[in-house]
Amino acid sequence: MTIDPVVFMNTLVKRFDFTEEDKVILKSNADWGREIAAEMADHFYAYLGRDEEMNTILNATEGRIHRLHKTFVQWFHEMFTGIDDWSAGYSQCRWQIGIVHVKVGIQPQHIVPAMATVVNEVGKKLKVEGKSEELKDALGKICMIDLAFIEQSYIEVSTSAVLKETGWSSALFKRLVISGAASM
Ligand code: HEM
Repeated sequence: MTIDPVVFMNTLVKRFDFTEEDKVILKSNADWGREIAAEMADHFYAYLGRDEEMNTILNATEGRIHRLHKTFVQWFHEMFTGIDDWSAGYSQCRWQIGIVHVKVGIQPQHIVPAMATVVNEVGKKLKVEGKSEELKDALGKICMIDLAFIEQSYIEVSTSAVLKETGWSSALFKRLVISGAASM
């Protein structure tokens, strides 16, 4: 493992200004989060299913889509509960979710639009149910934190795989990346 998920979480908490007030409002709406989770999962997988490449991945193995529905519901609810007050357990869990997506071979370009679907659908639901702007902001922040974990795992996994295979130092790899970018 190249990054420490807890350190990364702390950095993201600061960057997104995810405050104690955000945590309180999420926790106090945790039951609501659980109630709407299955509906959010339906929107999410309907969206993914409309893309041919993602639909193939979703149905590549027996029972995968069914399992995914359940893991989405749990993931969604955990954004409200914070698992362990958004500490080590939460960070590890979010890091692992990123790794799973790299392992399964999902291209990172699919991740941001997928999270945008969640933010969009939950935004509509918040409006219909007259929920507060504070809850909307807090949910937006935690969705972005989770997104940052998944995105970061792609770069961490690729970099550490190259370093392991070649024996290069990270400084050399960084130089090669920069000179590669300069030649594009
Ligand atoms: C906002 C973005 C996404 C979130 C929050 C999310 C959430 C999750 C979660 C919680 C898991 C379970 C991880 C585990 O087993 O520990 C998972 C696995 C998986 N996700 Fe996603 N996902 C996202 C994007 C996508 C996209 C774009 C695809 C494209 C098809 C996808 C397909 C999969 C697959 C195939 C698995 C593994 C299923 C298995 O166990 O067989 N996910 N995802």
